[in-house]
Amino acid sequence: MKSISLIQFLIEERRAGRINAELSLLIEVVARACKRIAVATNKGALGGVLGEAGTGNIQGEAQKKLDVISNEILLEANAWGGQLAACASEEMEDPQPIPDMYPKGNHLLLFDPLDGSSNIDVNISVGTIFSILRCPDGVTEPKAEHFLQPGTTQLGAGYVVYGPATVLVLTFGHGTHEFTLDREVGSFILSRRDIRIPEETGEFAINMSNQRHWEAPMQRYIGELLAGKDGPRGRDFNMRWVASMVADVHRIITRGGVFFYPLDAKIKSKGGKLRLMYEANPMAMIIEQAGGAATTGRERIMGIQPSGLHQRVPVFLGSKKEVEVATHYHVEADAAV
Ligand code: AHG
Repeated sequence: MKSISLIQFLIEERRAGRINAELSLLIEVVARACKRIAVATNKGALGGVLGEAGTGNIQGEAQKKLDVISNEILLEANAWGGQLAACASEEMEDPQPIPDMYPKGNHLLLFDPLDGSSNIDVNISVGTIFSILRCPDGVTEPKAEHFLQPGTTQLGAGYVVYGPATVLVLTFGHGTHEFTLDREVGSFILSRRDIRIPEETGEFAINMSNQRHWEAPMQRYIGELLAGKDGPRGRDFNMRWVASMVADVHRIITRGGVFFYPLDAKIKSKGGKLRLMYEANPMAMIIEQAGGAATTGRERIMGIQPSGLHQRVPVFLGSKKEVEVATHYHVEADAAV
């Protein structure tokens, strides 16, 4: 079978009228930047890229060297092409404008440059997550407020997993597709078109160490999964937790499953652990486009009107039926109060 490169796929999407030339260029630039991040992550200790950067980000989290390097690679790659009006990143408090010397485009790019960075030093998969929005008409110098658009308005979303293989997963709202990096050729090649997540699953992902801090409906839901065949669900469930959302989501779009980062007493005041604009929304779009569901446990993630660039939300996503059961338990518990 003839292989289809990412560039060829993008040209076909343009011809089908699903994306324009600027969006196509934007994906090419992001993909090229991610290849550079893959090279940096693959070097590991030999590249001198492991360990702490000695700085903190806006969220008060210690930055790893590779967080900083990946952020710089994405910013630098996206500055000059003319496809963007501004970028926003987990690693920066405010959006980064496009320098005046370069032409500006009509798109806004948000990214988590290196998700799961606690896993870098132990050689476990990490990734990049990105979301693409339209810059509002008439805005030439986008500020944070111009990024605050619900996930339903995303023009595209994707992630790259830097694992045993480097894999790009992409959606423009017409299905979710996977591309695998051919390292010899240097190109991403289409490896799965129109991915479908099974509606039912027997596998869940959650950080069980937070169990005692969860809300009652989450305790009930996971309690029932753990009870297995002898419990109300009448079957055994398996558990996996990589602690890199990209890797957990990639497993789900490959063989099904559900992922939860629910609200718990420790993080309640922050609204959740994961960031809405550059983690939850792009993953929600990818999952929904593959036939799965994504909620906060109470509402559809992509329906949320964001109130801040770095806003956090609880995340339930994956196989539709399990997301619905867990969400139903929360909604039901709220209604009973
Ligand atoms: P970060 O962007 O800081 O690397 O966050 C990682 C996220 C996500 O990838 C993962 O699912 C979760 O945090 C892991 O959280 P725990 O440390 O609580 O397991």
